[in-house]
Amino acid sequence: MDLTPEEETVLAGGEGETRARMLEVLLALGKVFGADRLIPIRSAQISGASYKTIGEYGLEWLRSLDARVSVPAFLNPVGMDRDRWQEMGVDPAFARDQQDVIEAYARLGVRLSCTCTPYYFMQTDYGDHLAWSESSAVCFANSVIGARTNREGGPGALAAAIIGKTPCYGLHLVGNRRPHLVFRVEDAPPDADTAWYGALGYHAGKIAGNRIPFFQGIRPPRDGLKALGAAMAATGAVALFHVEGITPDARIFPFDTAGLEVVPVTSAEVSALFVPGEVDAVAIGCPHCSGDELSRIAGLLAGRQARIPLWIFASREVIAANRETVTQIEGSGARVFADTCMVVSPAMDRFSTIMVNSGKAAAYVPTMCGAAVRAGTLAECIATATSPV
Ligand code: F3S
Repeated sequence: MDLTPEEETVLAGGEGETRARMLEVLLALGKVFGADRLIPIRSAQISGASYKTIGEYGLEWLRSLDARVSVPAFLNPVGMDRDRWQEMGVDPAFARDQQDVIEAYARLGVRLSCTCTPYYFMQTDYGDHLAWSESSAVCFANSVIGARTNREGGPGALAAAIIGKTPCYGLHLVGNRRPHLVFRVEDAPPDADTAWYGALGYHAGKIAGNRIPFFQGIRPPRDGLKALGAAMAATGAVALFHVEGITPDARIFPFDTAGLEVVPVTSAEVSALFVPGEVDAVAIGCPHCSGDELSRIAGLLAGRQARIPLWIFASREVIAANRETVTQIEGSGARVFADTCMVVSPAMDRFSTIMVNSGKAAAYVPTMCGAAVRAGTLAECIATATSPV
């Protein structure tokens, strides 16, 4: 790879050992993927934040680093709400270890917005180069915003945050953003719920694998796009998708879908994910809720009271910006937690069957929480968790 004189200095250890080691990580990645240079990034989003997933080894590695990030960098959800972990029933020993992980990231200058939806408060524009690692955030940034990021591993994203650059390969290059297959959705409901798009993603991700899909026949709103991408990133390894007439690259590049494999999808195939049954908790907010989603939840909860745990997850920033709505939601007995989610928090492990309105959560809850999962629309989730006052 071609290095600038400044990068040569960093590599030679002129700016400290950690920066040299982090640059080595980026160069190794660049070599594997055929990058010819590093490019500046606007922001980084770093996974590997929950003690449940990184454990003691990851914590020790973080503690060994001695540098600060040089671009805005955000942490992925951790294993608990940093203020309300006791209310979640998180074990104090886990909370102590989790706090150590958080402090290790804070020491590096990583912002403690522990969320998979940093795009709700961090200005991110079309064409921005990023180094984001949480798969749903990557899919949203590439597909809905039109920014450019590969699906980074946690260490790669942290290295990019510290150096302020990432190797230029993969989805940073326009030529690699063309679609590989077409999903032709034949009978999408005109008023499809966000959960329906999550279920479409659950189905499509298994077929797409790591290919770039181009959707025809759907018109998802922004939260629907978020749910669609998150699920495809979970059941497949999709990091970018296009929706005809909706997503920015689908409008700007003259995509020629002729000659691509066309996969017809029916609403019946999508709806197969929705199987009714008893549950002992309901979890909403995968990916973390938007302000609009919180408003819809508050509306559905009017005149109802939670009868089983109803946990809703959103970023601190979205909660702060929608404080009145959150108070309304919590008046029903539901809880709106920040910093964490139903997949990365060990607090969900005590439930045996969890209902979700997310294709991604439906894919991960069984393996990550050891619980059975049921999927439903937002309205079904609220109706299941509550009864009329
Ligand atoms: Fe976000 Fe957790 Fe889902 S990190 S995308 S809420 S699994």
